[in-house]
Amino acid sequence: MLRLTFFVLLVYIIVPGLAVTHEDFKTCTQSGFCKRNRDLADKAFATGKSWTSPYTLTPDALKFDSGVLTGVVRKDVVSGEDVELPIVMSFYESGAARVVIDEEKRMAGLIELRHDSKANKKRYDEAWKWATDGELELSESAIFRQDHPGPGYSLMNYGPNDRFSAILHHSPFEVEFQIDGKTHIHLNSRGLLNLEHWRPKGSGEALGEDESTWWEETFAKFTDSKPRGPESVAVDVEFPGYNHVFGIPEHADQISLRETRGGPGNHEEPYRLYNSDVFEYELNSPMSLYGAIPYMQAHRFGSTVGVFWLNAAETWIDIVKEHDSNDKQTSTHWISESGRIDLFIFLGDTPKDIGQAYGKVTGYPQLPPQFAIGYHQCRWNYMSDEDVKTVDATFDKYQIPYDAIWLDIEYTDERKYFTWHPLRFPSPKDMQEQLMESERKLVVLIDPHIKKESGYFVSDELRSKGLAVLNKDNEIYDGSCWPGLSNWIDAFNPATAAWWNTLHKYDRYKGSLSNLFIENDMGEPSVFHGPELTMPRDNIHHGNWEHRDVHNLNGLTIINATFQALLDREANTRPFLLTRSFYSGSQRMTAMWTGDNQAKWEHLAISLPMILTNGIAGFPFAGADVGGFFDDPDVHLLTRWYQAGIWYPFFRAHSHLDTKRREPYLIQEPYRTYIIRALRLRYQLLPAWYTAFHEASINGMPIVRPQYYIFPKDEEGFAIDDQLWLGGTGILAKPVVEDTDSTEVYLAGEEKYYDYFDFTIYSPGKTHSIEAPMEKIPMFIKGGHIIPRRDRPRRSSALMRSDPFTLIVTLTKDGTAEGSLYFDDGESYDYEEGAYIHRQLLFHDRVLSSVDIGARGRQTDKFLKKIENITVERIVLIDPPPELKNTQTVKILEEGSGSEYDAPLAYYEVDEGKADYVVVKKPNMRIGSTWQIKF
Ligand SMILES: *[C@@H]1O[C@H](CO)[C@@H](O)[C@H](O)[C@H]1NC(C)=O
Ligand SMILES: *[C@@H]1O[C@H](CO)[C@@H](O)[C@H](O)[C@H]1NC(C)=O
Repeated sequence: MLRLTFFVLLVYIIVPGLAVTHEDFKTCTQSGFCKRNRDLADKAFATGKSWTSPYTLTPDALKFDSGVLTGVVRKDVVSGEDVELPIVMSFYESGAARVVIDEEKRMAGLIELRHDSKANKKRYDEAWKWATDGELELSESAIFRQDHPGPGYSLMNYGPNDRFSAILHHSPFEVEFQIDGKTHIHLNSRGLLNLEHWRPKGSGEALGEDESTWWEETFAKFTDSKPRGPESVAVDVEFPGYNHVFGIPEHADQISLRETRGGPGNHEEPYRLYNSDVFEYELNSPMSLYGAIPYMQAHRFGSTVGVFWLNAAETWIDIVKEHDSNDKQTSTHWISESGRIDLFIFLGDTPKDIGQAYGKVTGYPQLPPQFAIGYHQCRWNYMSDEDVKTVDATFDKYQIPYDAIWLDIEYTDERKYFTWHPLRFPSPKDMQEQLMESERKLVVLIDPHIKKESGYFVSDELRSKGLAVLNKDNEIYDGSCWPGLSNWIDAFNPATAAWWNTLHKYDRYKGSLSNLFIENDMGEPSVFHGPELTMPRDNIHHGNWEHRDVHNLNGLTIINATFQALLDREANTRPFLLTRSFYSGSQRMTAMWTGDNQAKWEHLAISLPMILTNGIAGFPFAGADVGGFFDDPDVHLLTRWYQAGIWYPFFRAHSHLDTKRREPYLIQEPYRTYIIRALRLRYQLLPAWYTAFHEASINGMPIVRPQYYIFPKDEEGFAIDDQLWLGGTGILAKPVVEDTDSTEVYLAGEEKYYDYFDFTIYSPGKTHSIEAPMEKIPMFIKGGHIIPRRDRPRRSSALMRSDPFTLIVTLTKDGTAEGSLYFDDGESYDYEEGAYIHRQLLFHDRVLSSVDIGARGRQTDKFLKKIENITVERIVLIDPPPELKNTQTVKILEEGSGSEYDAPLAYYEVDEGKADYVVVKKPNMRIGSTWQIKF
C-alpha cells in the first residue's frame, strides 16, 4: 500500500506539463484578502450554529419603487462605529434580480488615502458599463411586502407568472431566492458576508486585530502600496439541492467544478479569477488563466439556476458540496479584493433559460463574419510576405480549404504595431491582394503595449495625448513586453478609444486592406517581469481607478476599442477579432482562444471541457491552438487534434517560433489525407455551424453543447465533458484525445443514433465501445434531426457562397424530424434589415417541409432574389420507413412554382447493423422558398 502511494506520488511529480512557475502566482494564502476571508469561513465553520453574521437589514429604511428596493445594511463592529452599507435590489422584467451593496463612507469620499495617492476613493462602480449590454428593463409587476411572511422578514414577488420570490431575513441579513416557494439560491446562509469597511491604519491593531495583510503587501519582491487599505467584499451563495456547478472560466479543468477545500479529487485552492499570462499552464487546476467570467450555473434534475458576480477585481471562489442524498447542496464563497458586492440572480428551469437570462444582462455573442468560422492557419511566424503567398498557394495545390492566414508579431518593424517589417514585408498589399483572389483574409497581431520610442508615431501620440496607463505616482507607467520598454494604452479612457480608432484607418495604417482583421493579444495585461506577470495593482486608469479595481476588464476595453475601429474603418462589414484576455461581455465583440497550450495529449483532452465551459458561460466562440502551441506534436497527436479541432467554434492551428513547420500539406501520408478529410468535414457542415452561431447570437445557446444541455434530466450525463453536440443539429462528436484506436461514447435518451459516415445503428441509453482507427472521427446523428450541409469542396468558405445544399434526415421512433437553417451574406449587417433566410425544416407524416421562421425586412426580397438559384441538390433520409422500398419518386410542391413535380428517389439496402437509406437526387427546390416533399 505504501509502495503504491509512493508510486502514485511519483507519477504525479513527473507528469509532463507541470512546468508552470508556481512561484510567480499567488495562492490564496499569499493573497491577504483571500486568506482573511477564508479564515473567516473557517472560524464560522468552527463556531458552528452559534456563528452569527454581523450584518443586519434596517427594515424601516426599506423603500420600494418600480422594481427597485433600496435600504441600508448595517455592519456590527467591535469599535461600535456606525458602518452603513447602502443596498439596492433590482428586479427585472426578464426575471433576473440584482443585489448591490456599497459603503456609505467611501461613496461620500470620506476616507483618507495613504502615500499621497490620487486614487478614486469610491468602490469601483463602473464594471456594469463595460460588462453589460445596456440597462435592463425593470419589473412593473414585482410586489414588495414588509414584515412578510412574518416579523423579521420581507418578501418580494417577481418573475414570470410571479413564480419567483426573494425572502429577506433582516437579522442577520440573508436572502433566499425561491421558485414556486422552494429555495434555490441562498445568500449569506453560512454568514460569510463580508465588506471590509474603511478604517485608518492602526485602528484594527488597537482592537487586537491582525493588520499584517491590510496595508502594503509584498509578493515576489513587488510591493503593492494599497492606498485604500483592506477593502475586500465576499459572500456565500448556497444552492440547496444542487450537486453540480459549472462555469467561472477560465480554468484548465473539467466542466463540473470541483470542491476546493481539499480531499480526494478536490482542489486545495479556490478557483481564481485574475487574468494572467500563465506560461505552460497546469491542467486540472483552479489557477487563473487569461480570462475571467464570474458567472456560475447550478444544475440538477429538471432545474437550473445561476449567479453572476459583477466584480472586475481579483476574485477567488471556494466550492464545497454536501453529497448526502437527503441533503444535497453546493455552497460557494465569492471573494474579491475591491469593488462592490454586485450579484445577479437567475432563476429558471433549464440551462437554456439561465443562459438566456445571463445573455440579457451581458449581451449575446456577435454573429461573426462567416470566414471566421472556417479554418485559420496561424504560426509564430510566417516570416515574409513571400512566405505567406507560398503557404497560400500550397494550400491550393493540395486542395485544402482555409479562410485566414495569420501573422504573429514578427511582421512588424521591431514590434511596433501598425508598421510592417521593411525587409520581410515590403509589399503587404500584394500579399493581401493574392489572398483576396480566393476571398481569404489576413489576421495580424496588434497588442496594447506600445514600444516606447520617440519618433514612433504611435508612441509619441500615446504619450503626448496622455492616453497611457499611469503608475501610482501619476506618471506614465513603463514596463517591458515584446518590444522591450513599453507603455500601455488605457482603453478605459474614451479618448484613448477615439485615438485608437484613427490608427486603424487605411490612411494611417499604411499597407492594410479591407481583408485585414485583428488579434489583440496580451490584454491581461501581460507585463514581462511585472508582479504576477501583469501590472502593479496601484497603477492608475482613467477615472483615477486603481488597476486592482479593473484588472479583469482590461482586455475587454481594448477589444471594445478595436471592434469600433474596425466598424468605422469599413462600413457595414462585421469585424472579426481574437482575444486571449476576456471578461463577461467580451462575447459581444470577439472570439477567444485558450492561450499557450502544449503539444501533449493531455492538452488536447482538456481543450474540450475548457471550450464547453466557455459556452456555458455565454462566450461560445472559443477554440484552442490546434496541434499545441509549444513543442512538436507527432503525427498521431496532430491528426487527432485536427479531428477534434473541427469541433471548436473557433478553429485555428497555431505554433511557437521554435516548432517545426506543420501546415497540413507538410504532413506525411496517410495522415495528411486524414487531416484534409477533417477540414473538409468542417467546411461541409458550415451551414449547420453558421446556424448554431446565429442561434447563439439571439439566445446565448452554446455553439457546441455539453451533454446536460441536451439531456437536462439525465443525471448520468451531467459531468460528461469529453463529447459534445453541435448546436441543435443532433450531431454528437466524441473526439479521440488519447493515442488509441477505440473509444467509448455515452448515447443517452430514447432515440437511435447513427454513425455519421456509414449509418451504423447504435441503440440508445447506454455507453458503447467503438472502433476508432486513426482515420475515423467518431460522430453520430441522433434520430429526429435534419442537418443542412454543402458538399462541394472549395478553397474557402466564401467560394461556397452559391453552392447547393444537401439535407440529411434521421427520424425519431415516431417518424418525425426537425432542423433549421440560418443563412445570410456572411459579411454585412444587412441581415438586420431582413437580408437572410431562417428556415425551419420538418418531417412529419412522410412529408419533409421547409417553413419560414424569419422576420421580413427592407432587404428581404433583394436577398431572396440574390439567392434564387441556390437549391437543395440532394436529400438523404437515413433509416427510412420500409414502404419507401417500392417508391421511385417523391412529389414536390414548391411555393411560387404553381404545380407539383417529381424527383427520383433511390433506396439503398445495406448490411445488417447499418441503416438503409434513400437518396433524393436533384429535387432542386430553392433553399429560400417554402416547399413540401411527399415521400
Ligand atoms: C465600447 O465602444 C463603443 C463604441 O466605441 C462605445 O459606444 C461604448 O461606450 C464602449 N463601451 C464603453 C463601456 O465605454
Ligand atoms: C438564376 O438563373 C437564371 C437562369 O440561368 C438567370 O437568368 C438568373 O440571372 C440567375 N439569378 C442570379 C441571381 O444569379
